[in-house]
Amino acid sequence: MQELRRRHAAAEAGGGEERWQRQHKEGKLSARERIDLLLDEGTFEEMDKLVRHHCHDFGMEQQMIDGDGFITGHGLIHGRLAFVFAQDFTVFGGSLSSANAQKIVKIMDLALKTGAPVIGLNDSGGARIQEGVMSLAGYADIFLRNTLASGVIPQISAIMGPCAGGAVYSPALTDFVFMVDQTSYMFVTGPDVIKTVTHEDVTKEDLGGAATHNSKSGVAHFQAHDDAECLRMIRELMSYLPQNNRDGVVGQMASDPSDREDPVLDTLVPAESNQPYDIKDVITRVADEGVFFEVHEHWAKNIVVGFVRMDGQPVGVVANQPAYLAGCLDIDSSTKGARFVRFCDAFNIPILTFEDVPGFLPGTAQEFGGIIRHGAKLLYAYAEATVPKITIVTRKAYGGAYCVMGSKHLRTDVNLAWPSAEIAVMGAEGAVNIVYRRELAAAKDGDAVRKEKLEEFRERFANPFVAAENGFLDDVIEPRQTRPRVIRALRMLATKVDTMPKKKHGNIPL
Ligand code: HXC
Repeated sequence: MQELRRRHAAAEAGGGEERWQRQHKEGKLSARERIDLLLDEGTFEEMDKLVRHHCHDFGMEQQMIDGDGFITGHGLIHGRLAFVFAQDFTVFGGSLSSANAQKIVKIMDLALKTGAPVIGLNDSGGARIQEGVMSLAGYADIFLRNTLASGVIPQISAIMGPCAGGAVYSPALTDFVFMVDQTSYMFVTGPDVIKTVTHEDVTKEDLGGAATHNSKSGVAHFQAHDDAECLRMIRELMSYLPQNNRDGVVGQMASDPSDREDPVLDTLVPAESNQPYDIKDVITRVADEGVFFEVHEHWAKNIVVGFVRMDGQPVGVVANQPAYLAGCLDIDSSTKGARFVRFCDAFNIPILTFEDVPGFLPGTAQEFGGIIRHGAKLLYAYAEATVPKITIVTRKAYGGAYCVMGSKHLRTDVNLAWPSAEIAVMGAEGAVNIVYRRELAAAKDGDAVRKEKLEEFRERFANPFVAAENGFLDDVIEPRQTRPRVIRALRMLATKVDTMPKKKHGNIPL
């Protein structure tokens, strides 16, 4: 008993008092404090607390710490099973040994067998340098499980310290990445190596801080002010997710009436079609209790993605944002939308699309960057998704973007439009300049001819009725009715079954 208690105490002491103080001084919680905040109180069951590393090089045999700096186990979140690991930066900088790689592999295998999510709290310098290839092998074992588990159980990563090497590639394979502002970093390699190789001067924060990965690279999906907020946000995200891809999502009792109409929606879209408005106002007015849990809030803001509840059931929302780049689709927004659509589809979460998109962003930067390839990702993701799909066209649905954003032709189940919808190959200005180029050049009074043609074009196409006449829209509705109509559509689609042709897997244009 004494020996058992001594070993437990040693595991809990981690890398010692001095390193603990450094951790706390930096504003970071300890690995165990993080797990306690993440899980329902008193539900954590630790596993492998007595595991030690097997390294006998570089004097490592003198530094055996029970648990080896990784805390692994399971507990409950909102009463549902979740597996969790947390790296203790005070033990060899949270680096991954062969022994603690096997601890992670053990809980990931259990998570797959039991159909429960895995949450990793990362605070690690990557592969344990003293262990060489043994550590690399451990990472590869984890990467394999991340990949096998993808689309089967939700995988969530929080970056809560300086993370390098394998400590960023495993999170990159997971579904959602959280970062903590000013205390977390992600990079393949740090500023010192960069200076040596490329002679670039860059700070840790600029290179791989929370702001960088949330707004520039899109590697991270969420940014928290501190550890406690990060863990609260993970709990909130979990409330929208099923346990696995076979599980029905757990709905909540809705107190917001399903037949609630909102007259403000009738006047929310400006009369001038080039005036912006905030699509998030539409989303919150339609959602249960006005709550929208946004994903990737700071990156590619021309598309908005996230979770709401409709009638108590989680729904994934994808929406063009007219208040940013006029809601154009570009490389980043296409990738952002595609990844979110695929997550929802993998986990049986219905997709609600709000469309107001003037097209793909023109220009050499986009073309050279491969907008064709990246835009195709969003098209592919919508087309392959078999979950219930509902699209509301609030204003513009132009060109290829009309096809992409959950059009009827990509087997969307219910397509509705507001009277302000404009469904055309392109905007009136662009269309008239192309179709009537010769007439305009030859006309004595070019401006008058242009005005007349513009009016004619708008009259014919700047409305939802041609699409409705062809059945590409199921109905044109008064905006105030959006919430009741979406909820009724979701109820109708609750038993939807759709399939893909038999294949090993598709070849999404990556
Ligand atoms: C062993 C490590 C370590 C590592 C840090 N430590 N990283 N020990 N293996 N990978 C130890 C340090 O020796 C130190 O020990 C303690 O952790 C804290 O580290 P500091 O450097 O003092 O902390 P800080 O200044 O905050 O810097 C953190 C850091 C830096 C940015 C993570 O330590 C760092 O750059 N580490 C190496 C990162 C790296 O290149 N890892 C390998 C990647 S390759 P003491 O005893 O002094 O407290 C990889 C391959 C995977 O992961 C495959 C990918 C596809």
